[in-house]
Amino acid sequence: MQKRKTVLDIRTMKKAGEKITMLTAFDAAMAALLASADVDILLVGDSLGMVALGYDSTVPVTMDQMIHHASAVRRGAPGVFVVGDMPFGSYQSGIRDAIINGSRFLKEAGCDAVKLEGGLEVCDTVTALVRAGISVMGHIGLTPQTASQLGGYKVQGRDLESARKMVLEAQALEKAGAFAIVMECIPDELGRIISEEIAIPTIGIGAGVHCDGQVLVIYDLLGMFEKFVPGFVKSYCKLAPTIKEAVAEYNREVRNGDFPDKEHSFSSKANLRELLDLP
Ligand code: KIV
Repeated sequence: MQKRKTVLDIRTMKKAGEKITMLTAFDAAMAALLASADVDILLVGDSLGMVALGYDSTVPVTMDQMIHHASAVRRGAPGVFVVGDMPFGSYQSGIRDAIINGSRFLKEAGCDAVKLEGGLEVCDTVTALVRAGISVMGHIGLTPQTASQLGGYKVQGRDLESARKMVLEAQALEKAGAFAIVMECIPDELGRIISEEIAIPTIGIGAGVHCDGQVLVIYDLLGMFEKFVPGFVKSYCKLAPTIKEAVAEYNREVRNGDFPDKEHSFSSKANLRELLDLP
């Protein structure tokens, strides 16, 4: 089993110029596969809502759903650092709720840290969580929980004013105690500047190659989610057609009686019908 990384290890990777890999996982089987492929961090992202639960956005995802899936990921990958994503409504209502819900990720699901979206407006919450012993990963740029306020799922920080604001947000989150920051859908040069301006690792998704690490939604990386593929996604294989072909073959074999064959069946006594006293 791998040795689980700590917050300190993750910060040290930036200092050493070692890139950090993070991927989402929502269940134990996938978490175990990603652990054996040596990923640094598993994120139980609230993208769960869109890819695994079939919602149109991440907003409907509940704390109970996140805990259910985060616990499964922890069981599947005991040797990997796991981050639980605080869903919409679990921290916006106040610091007390944020601590209660953040604690659930650690106590009930065995996560190592939580992630929450937002800039200056969440800094007091980040500080309170860290003081309560809950490590926090920030998330700026395109923040899907509030995408409608940002004009939809589009690149953020393109004009000078919003780029400047984003640099300030990253610095404020670092000061508030975040140990790393996800930066989603921002120009690569802004990704480079923020990564240079703060000492904690930046993890990019559509934020260019200069971030200290990268994250992708695993269904996107594997080419399994065909409904919507953002421009920054690289699919390293195309499992959707492979899955469809496999299922079509299964259907064919079941329907024409080729499956199960002898190899996939259990033999019994030749005269079983007789022994059972059946006519
Ligand atoms: O929910 C998620 O998967 C995320 C990543 C896109 C960073 O927040």
